[in-house]
Amino acid sequence: MKNIIAPSVLSADFGNLARDIEMLNESDCSWVHLDVMDGVFVPNISFGMPVVKHIAAHSKKPLDAHLMIVNPDNYISSFASLGVTYLTVHLEACTHLERTISAIHAAGMKAGVAINPHTNVCLLEDVLGEIDLALVMSVNPGFGGQKFIPRSVDKVRKLRQMIDESGSKCLIEIDGGINEENVAMLAATGVDAFVAGSSVFGSPDPLKTISFMANA
Ligand code: DX5
Ligand code: ZN
Repeated sequence: MKNIIAPSVLSADFGNLARDIEMLNESDCSWVHLDVMDGVFVPNISFGMPVVKHIAAHSKKPLDAHLMIVNPDNYISSFASLGVTYLTVHLEACTHLERTISAIHAAGMKAGVAINPHTNVCLLEDVLGEIDLALVMSVNPGFGGQKFIPRSVDKVRKLRQMIDESGSKCLIEIDGGINEENVAMLAATGVDAFVAGSSVFGSPDPLKTISFMANA
């Protein structure tokens, strides 16, 4: 089975965004990953609704939005109306996580929960039956182009076991420092979906890189 590749638009050429989205349309990627940052939850600001709207208008692939923002509940209906398929919130940003997950589902989207590198995967145990996606951050969120944190592999292994034992259909996504060198090892460890920013958009041949990762 092919790996789900979700190129992160954060590393695209914002001056030629439509061109880069068209490239993804022609590629072997399964989703388009949108890193939304508010400068509060993470020390960086990326883009918001007008840019997501533009991407949605051009993309033929499902949109996978990763909210690195506080108070994500306030924006669930906006992302739903823009046509986002997967909406992922951070566990660390949600006081009433179960309520947030229910609201994402009620808005017609699939729900994901992301955890930072310091957050133990055990904290996902009580929501595994409710969510569609568990996102393991393999860098501290906020910036593209960082180095993969090796300890993330153990987190994936543990999470895979938890998901399989619970009977949940939840997918595991990994985000940060993913490249052609580590994707096969991570797929073997149990990752289903791979976010890749700089390794795709910094590649001399992004289509080839996406295809390689999808089949690794
Ligand atoms: C980090 C973002 C990532 C990032 C991945 O805060 O969530 O999606 O853009 O970028 P690379 O693949 O360059 O590590
Ligand atoms: Zn992301």
